[in-house]
Amino acid sequence: MEFDFDIPVQREGSHSVKFDGRQQYFGTTDVAPMWVADMDFAVPPCVTRALLARAAHPVFGYTLYPESVYQSLIGWFQRRHHWHIERDWIVMAPGVVPSLHACCLAFAEAGEGVIVQPPVYFPFFSAVTNTQRQLVLNPLQCVDGRYEINFAQLEAQAKHARLLMLCTPHNPVGRVWSKAELLGVLRIAKEHNLIVLSDDIHADLVYPGVTHTMIGTLEAEFGEFIRTNVITAVAPSKTFNIPGLGLSSLIVPNPDHRKALHKVFELLHVSNNNPFSITTFEAAYSEGDQWLDSLMIYLEQNKTMTREFIAEHVPQIRCADIEGTYLLWLDCSALQLSDAALRDFFIRECKVGMNPGIVFGEEGRGFMRMNIGTTRANLLAAWQSISQAVSSRSRR
Ligand SMILES: Cc1ncc(COP(=O)(O)O)c(C=O)c1O
Repeated sequence: MEFDFDIPVQREGSHSVKFDGRQQYFGTTDVAPMWVADMDFAVPPCVTRALLARAAHPVFGYTLYPESVYQSLIGWFQRRHHWHIERDWIVMAPGVVPSLHACCLAFAEAGEGVIVQPPVYFPFFSAVTNTQRQLVLNPLQCVDGRYEINFAQLEAQAKHARLLMLCTPHNPVGRVWSKAELLGVLRIAKEHNLIVLSDDIHADLVYPGVTHTMIGTLEAEFGEFIRTNVITAVAPSKTFNIPGLGLSSLIVPNPDHRKALHKVFELLHVSNNNPFSITTFEAAYSEGDQWLDSLMIYLEQNKTMTREFIAEHVPQIRCADIEGTYLLWLDCSALQLSDAALRDFFIRECKVGMNPGIVFGEEGRGFMRMNIGTTRANLLAAWQSISQAVSSRSRR
């Protein structure tokens, strides 16, 4: 079956954060929205069909998670990631960001250290600080444009921390941690009895030629430790463009950890979810394979086109290759602008709305994050506009 990702979808007026939140975030609506991490593509037809069928039932009462929802998740991860998830390990959660918070509350005491690896998706910071845990920063190291984990520092920090929040594929730098890197993390975590929360929300958005390793598959090397100390957050939300529906899962092999997480979710009264989220979760994980395969071909072409365009027309901006996600991490430091001026330049002169790198931590100074989950025509128009603005700036 063919899916046409070139078809534009009118998102303005749908109360979309990405489109209708522009005035609030950028101070103008006159920017191409390439920020918030959702895509401009229509969801898989299987999702729409399932939603319409559910909507045809006229009552939207409190809803259980049917067994088929759990089985759809198990089937997906077995099929796509060769990971066998036991039914009992699954804890349904509203979103992954709530789960970052829940893990801080459940697994670290107030004041205890939680390690995060900036530049990183900003709720990793706020989950720790909002819960009065201590933020321990283990910045990634950029080696020739490729980001790596600073294992020596991680080892030193692990002695005084309780929880490590990993992100793979990593938002915003686009790395997919290799098996060797994950084994390195597990070795340190085991030695210092850290709990590891791996946020794998982008796990399905990995480019051809790259293998994403679910940490839970490293059974042969760290099976026992994974069953006691590792939690993985997964969701169909990024994969199938349904993040507004707000349903995810935590994979938690340790029964004591499950109990602790249930306690947090019950305390906040967020253990249930709504019938539409549950319906789409199951439909996407059961029938979304072909759509995702086509999407990744389209995104790969978007990525390649962008990198080629930059190399040819905007060499002042550097864009390292990404292994996963639809988020490009643009090194704009050669433009020699302060972060406020850089943001302003992209809004006012390029008319493209992106996330300033600085919001992902100090390491993001001079960077911008661009969402390429849009039609190729939109993407090209944005880059033509950036190219013109950069050229006229350098002529000034
Ligand atoms: C790494 C990562 N985790 C979590 C989220 C958001 O998760 P949710 O919408 O389920 O809270 C995002 C969204 O961009 C993300 O990039």
